[in-house]
Amino acid sequence: MRSVGDCSVGNQPHRKTQGQFGPLSFSFNWLDEVSSTSDVARELGESGAAEGTVVVAKRQTAGRGRREKRWFSPEGGLYFTVVLRPQVPASHSRLLSIMAALAVADTVELATLASAQLKWPNDIYVSGKKVGGVLIETHVRDGRVNLALVGIGINVSRPDDEAPLYVGTNAIWLSDLVQKAPDITELLAAVLGSFTTWYQRLQSSDCASIMDAHNRRNLLMGRELEARTCDGVVVGRGMGIDSQGALLVEDKDGAVTAIIEGEVCSWS
Ligand code: BTN
Repeated sequence: MRSVGDCSVGNQPHRKTQGQFGPLSFSFNWLDEVSSTSDVARELGESGAAEGTVVVAKRQTAGRGRREKRWFSPEGGLYFTVVLRPQVPASHSRLLSIMAALAVADTVELATLASAQLKWPNDIYVSGKKVGGVLIETHVRDGRVNLALVGIGINVSRPDDEAPLYVGTNAIWLSDLVQKAPDITELLAAVLGSFTTWYQRLQSSDCASIMDAHNRRNLLMGRELEARTCDGVVVGRGMGIDSQGALLVEDKDGAVTAIIEGEVCSWS
């Protein structure tokens, strides 16, 4: 099997709260407006903030997604970034973002009773449309992840004004699925609660259960797809992810490629 795509890689809080979720203790910085919660979390993380520091904002003026995409962040959504110091091998970085996506999927399902799927690596879909995404930024030292910024965005209340063109037609909001949009604080607590469970599994190197959970929700499983990587385009059938979180794609001759980093641009 070949592997492709390994191209390695404000304002003052108006409210501070704390919370213990199993082994992780969270301290929350609630902000009204930031450029990006990941920018603020990075500053905090680089100046020594503890694992479990969370930056939450009501709105972002420069919310960003993977691959330099913008993330529409008006008031009414959930936007936050968690500072982690996992010390897991660098090869587990991808699993961190997959776990965050799993935690969002678990929460979305609980909140709406609609089934949530994952589009590799970490987009959360309901009814074929994207409801949330994860942006992970990691710092690696001596082969281990010594700082990870896990940024999560969930579309909660559909804004009154039309979304900008870059959002496209493929977005959905939780308020499209339930009569009353869920409470932001409760959603945040639910995502962090679920994430903590997955994080414990990663810490005990139980990568298989993370892989299995992703594969059960995998939107691309068995689908014909086209993925762009820094080594070129890969075309074939989605076979799930491996225990490191790489996407497995089987071509028409039965050869399997493991995509470590890339973007699935179409599937059917
Ligand atoms: C994606 O779908 O490409 C990832 C979107 C991630 C958006 C979240 S919102 C909180 C955090 N701050 C950001 O600027 N981005 C992430």
